Amino acid sequence: MTATAEPMTGMDGWRDLPAAQQPDWPDPARLRAVTGELAGLPPLVFAGECDVLRGRLAAVARGEAFVLQGGDCAETFAGATADAVRAKLQTLLQMAVVLTYGASVPIVKIGRMAGQFAKPRSRATETREGVELPAYRGDAINGIEYTAQARTPDPARLLRAYHCSAVTLNLCRAFATGGYADLHQVHAWNQDFVRESPSGQRYERLAGEIDRALAFMRACGADPEELHAVEFYSSHEALLLDYEHALTRPDSRTGQPYDTSAHLVWIGERTRDIDGAHVEFASGIRNPVAVKIGPSATPAEVLRLIAKLNPDREPGRLTLITRMGAGRIRDALPPLIQAVQAEDIEIPWVCDPMHGNTFEAPSGHKTRRFDDVLDEVQGFFEVHRGLGTHPGGIHIEFTGDNVTECVGGSHEIVADDLYRRYETACDPRLNRGQALDLAFMVAESYRTRPDA
Ligand code: PEP
Ligand code: CO
Repeated sequence: MTATAEPMTGMDGWRDLPAAQQPDWPDPARLRAVTGELAGLPPLVFAGECDVLRGRLAAVARGEAFVLQGGDCAETFAGATADAVRAKLQTLLQMAVVLTYGASVPIVKIGRMAGQFAKPRSRATETREGVELPAYRGDAINGIEYTAQARTPDPARLLRAYHCSAVTLNLCRAFATGGYADLHQVHAWNQDFVRESPSGQRYERLAGEIDRALAFMRACGADPEELHAVEFYSSHEALLLDYEHALTRPDSRTGQPYDTSAHLVWIGERTRDIDGAHVEFASGIRNPVAVKIGPSATPAEVLRLIAKLNPDREPGRLTLITRMGAGRIRDALPPLIQAVQAEDIEIPWVCDPMHGNTFEAPSGHKTRRFDDVLDEVQGFFEVHRGLGTHPGGIHIEFTGDNVTECVGGSHEIVADDLYRRYETACDPRLNRGQALDLAFMVAESYRTRPDA
């Protein structure tokens, strides 16, 4: 992989198309200087890694593996610390173990990490006590503090987003392969967790079973490599096209363009316009890509997205992440799957049970009911079972800390608790206990599949 000083030529088609959700940079010359600098910086991921992930996703489409994709709604620069990254990875590893062991299926682990610094917003501005300011669009663009200075988009933040991504990914890679993710550490991952919590105890019992299985294998003389490290992939929403474009480089092996900001990038529900800049950009890169699909999507739209983003029907190239809402999934998902089935296209279908289930609590906090999250996942399994297709994975927003942002869960959080530890920079996340509860439920649903 070569790091060219200039972004790739032939990757500029998106510039002529409408690009939704882009910041109003006050100084375009400064933006150009920053993207020029970004274009000279090393790639964060390598083309070969993206290709391996594409292969893993092809296995997901065939029903031979399951995706666990998750992390913060919005990462922050302040959150790029060893402790915070470890806590998130630890939660992801614990969930993955519950799923691997409980559902007996390989888990493709993809963080919403190391690059998730830009957010689409439903309104361009926000008004507090009569003062109107630009909305917070993620740390890559502006600051969350409610001052005119912080809220003014600043291109220098793109460089900081790059460096925070590099630091985070470096930590993730070290944790994934440097011994921390060794399966013999299953108990250690639970150590700083509230052991008395119902999900912590349930996890502890499962870890005990894994211990015995490992001891059995060791006694048999088997100690496979795979038990000592995990494969971890990074992903984020490809929202800021100037940033993604600056990190798009030719693969030294083939000359093909890869967006080296993450292994997988996705297009959000608000930017998936088939004639828009985001879809055009994503169609030009070789990474595996995903698109979020909400309840308003029609079968025709989905087929057009597939035709544009995966014209060669390459397995694992395009993943669809549905986010319908618990009340809609059972009606809204079947026609989309059937349309894809009728064309004989194999697609990894992933369920995001978060973004269709957000509401405002009486306290004014944006929240989600854990029961709605579970219900949407349940509906997702039911629909796929009914149609004979594969439920391919879940996409969630969680954090490793014991925040109080979503209500419900086995360690019941009620609406009146939300103020206790509400820290998200954007959408409400599952805390560690809720994330584990969800993993146990998904493992159970997966295990009860008809062909198991
Ligand atoms: C998100 O994933 O944080 C998000 C904004 O999702 P969606 O595009 O599905 O609304
Ligand atoms: Co979100």
